[in-house]
Amino acid sequence: MSSDLRLDVTESDGDGRGALTPILHRVVSRHQETADVTILALEPLSGPRLEVRPGQFNMLTAFGVGEVAISVSSAPRDPGPIQHSVRDVGQVTHALCRSRVGDLIGVRGPFGTDWRVSLDDVNSPILSGGDVVVMAGGIGLAPLRGAVHELVARAREGGGRVFVLIGAREPAQIVFNEDLAAWERDGARVLVSVDRGSPQWRGRVGLVTTLLADAGFDASSAAALICGPEIMMRFSARALVDMGVDPHRILVSLERNMQCGLGWCGHCQLGPFILCRDGPVVPYAGVVSHLLSERER
Ligand SMILES: Cc1cc2nc3c(=O)[nH]c(=O)nc-3n(C[C@H](O)[C@H](O)[C@H](O)COP(=O)(O)OP(=O)(O)OC[C@H]3O[C@@H](n4cnc5c(N)ncnc54)[C@H](O)[C@@H]3O)c2cc1C
Ligand code: FES
Repeated sequence: MSSDLRLDVTESDGDGRGALTPILHRVVSRHQETADVTILALEPLSGPRLEVRPGQFNMLTAFGVGEVAISVSSAPRDPGPIQHSVRDVGQVTHALCRSRVGDLIGVRGPFGTDWRVSLDDVNSPILSGGDVVVMAGGIGLAPLRGAVHELVARAREGGGRVFVLIGAREPAQIVFNEDLAAWERDGARVLVSVDRGSPQWRGRVGLVTTLLADAGFDASSAAALICGPEIMMRFSARALVDMGVDPHRILVSLERNMQCGLGWCGHCQLGPFILCRDGPVVPYAGVVSHLLSERER
């Protein structure tokens, strides 16, 4: 066991930094995106910016409080510092959300699988032609944001069309409004629905799956990326398959309690998957479709 540990530390990034020891980052800007979501931009105190593929996550340490898994929400081609969008749900996320510009945060990572939208991913099931449908529920858009940036840029260069379908509990909880507008200007079809409207809301009301019928993508050639609460991913993936989308071309992002992030502790096991290593992004086809369905029983 101990020799395996040494091997993994060495293999992960040479001197083990990022594997077990958090790299100190400074908060260089913070933005209150919604009442409970804060976007933190982080710069390393020394060394290069982390290279992250859209969909991967870091373990962020709020010193003296604890460490949690948070997806990277900036895109690889964004010139600025790396960004994380944190929803305040408990002790550690609360401490992260309250951090101020200049504060230090620990970063380990990046960990896990990605949305397969990088142009050098020659076997990507997502980039093999046709439309790409992105479905997000709430803060689930955070890990997808970098992927949508990549897909929209690719569409502008002649790649497949991009459809972004967003669900939120209420209008005030819609995240990344500026990005949604920019993606639409850049040619993506963006549709938003909320579970509960407000007096000012003029948009759609209903589950995110109700957007599918009007989206206008070609299901027979489409690929899909889905992230949100498990029940939302389950119904969205099923609806896509019913429309004719190949389940092998649907990816979902699964969340479990992450501790080591390195495949050692087993906290993140789901069925045959160690999700910090084999996930969080996994194909919907096969085992995952069964795992999601079994949770209904
Ligand atoms: C791969 C991965 C990527 C993630 N990416 C992000 C991200 O980009 N942004 C983000 O904000 N979060 C993300 N999360 C979720 C985040 O890790 C948890 O919200 C965090 O661990 C909660 O820790 P805490 O100490 O703040 O709350 P805890 O004290 O652990 O929990 C407090 C309460 O909140 C509930 N809770 C815990 N997690 C969640 C949750 N995800 N949603 C709703 N309620 C919850 C608990 O059941 C508990 O009742 C990700 C998780 C994983 C596994
Ligand atoms: S978090 Fe330890 S094995 Fe995945």
